[in-house]
Amino acid sequence: MPLPKLRLPVIQAPLFLLSGPEMVIASCRAGIVGSFPSPNARTEDILEHWLIEITTALKGNTEAAPWAINLVMHRSNPRRHADLELAIKYKAPLVITALGSPKEAVEAVHSYGGVIYADVNTVDFARRAADTGVDGLALICAGAGGHTGQLSPFAFVDEVRQFFDGEIILSGAIGNGRAIRASEILGADYVYMGTRFIPSHECLAADAYKQMVVDASAGDIVTSDSVTGVKANWLRDSLVNAGYDIANMPAPGDINFLEAAGDVKRWRDIWAAGQAVAGITQQQSIASIVDQLEQEYLEVRGAEL
Ligand SMILES: Cc1cc2nc3c(=O)[nH]c(=O)nc-3n(C[C@H](O)[C@H](O)[C@H](O)COP(=O)(O)O)c2cc1C
Repeated sequence: MPLPKLRLPVIQAPLFLLSGPEMVIASCRAGIVGSFPSPNARTEDILEHWLIEITTALKGNTEAAPWAINLVMHRSNPRRHADLELAIKYKAPLVITALGSPKEAVEAVHSYGGVIYADVNTVDFARRAADTGVDGLALICAGAGGHTGQLSPFAFVDEVRQFFDGEIILSGAIGNGRAIRASEILGADYVYMGTRFIPSHECLAADAYKQMVVDASAGDIVTSDSVTGVKANWLRDSLVNAGYDIANMPAPGDINFLEAAGDVKRWRDIWAAGQAVAGITQQQSIASIVDQLEQEYLEVRGAEL
């Protein structure tokens, strides 16, 4: 079940602590899918308020793109059933699952006509998620902000296409309209863009975090498993400011990944971003980022004719 046609095949990716209703609404109004991780709403009550805010703001706006909620499906997440119930109650047009199997959510989301995608970062996870009947797979490749994959998009899309004919969402270091078009040529239907939207006015990141993304180049992104126990991409200066010695990053030891993935303090003090930072030159509104992406995308499409 595909999504309705979008202005650009872009999903503003879910960002822990950074994406909330303002970002979602601005993205949808700009014509791309806006998303947020449900744990960003610290309680179920707050989550319900956010869902009311989003659905009310977009009601009747026929130009707006669909919105998406990102659910943490791992059994250690005590809110996984309650958050899924709320997604169903407010008929989330798109549900994106992460950290665990989408199995428990597939039927429920399909029952009200919703679309469900699963985040995966290996071929093995992609196979297992495909078997649950999801509509799409978000392939997290090398260079992505936050928890990253390690596969090249060239290899990952090709291999997944051999066993999956649903939607493919490509993710990792996609920062401009040319990269969106390149992803389509590789065989993807949509792209995820996370880092590109961190320095947006609507993003909840601290101003210094946004500016660090603007100032960084790809070489300033450090891949390390020392913070959460699994490989993730971080801004070098934020690791240094948090006391890490980049040349001697500690072994991940026995960090509990599932706790660390949702640890507010860790993610507030150490700033995640992907290799797409180099092309980001200013803080701007989501509307102006999407205008710019569209212009870059159309320039390449025009040149192909
Ligand atoms: C600060 C930050 C927080 C993130 N939080 C989440 C999250 O809560 N859930 C999730 O599924 N992915 C999360 N991601 C991954 C993004 O959804 C997306 O896969 C990634 O940003 C794409 O790569 P890009 O940053 O190179 O565009 C996060 C990424 C960043 C940079």
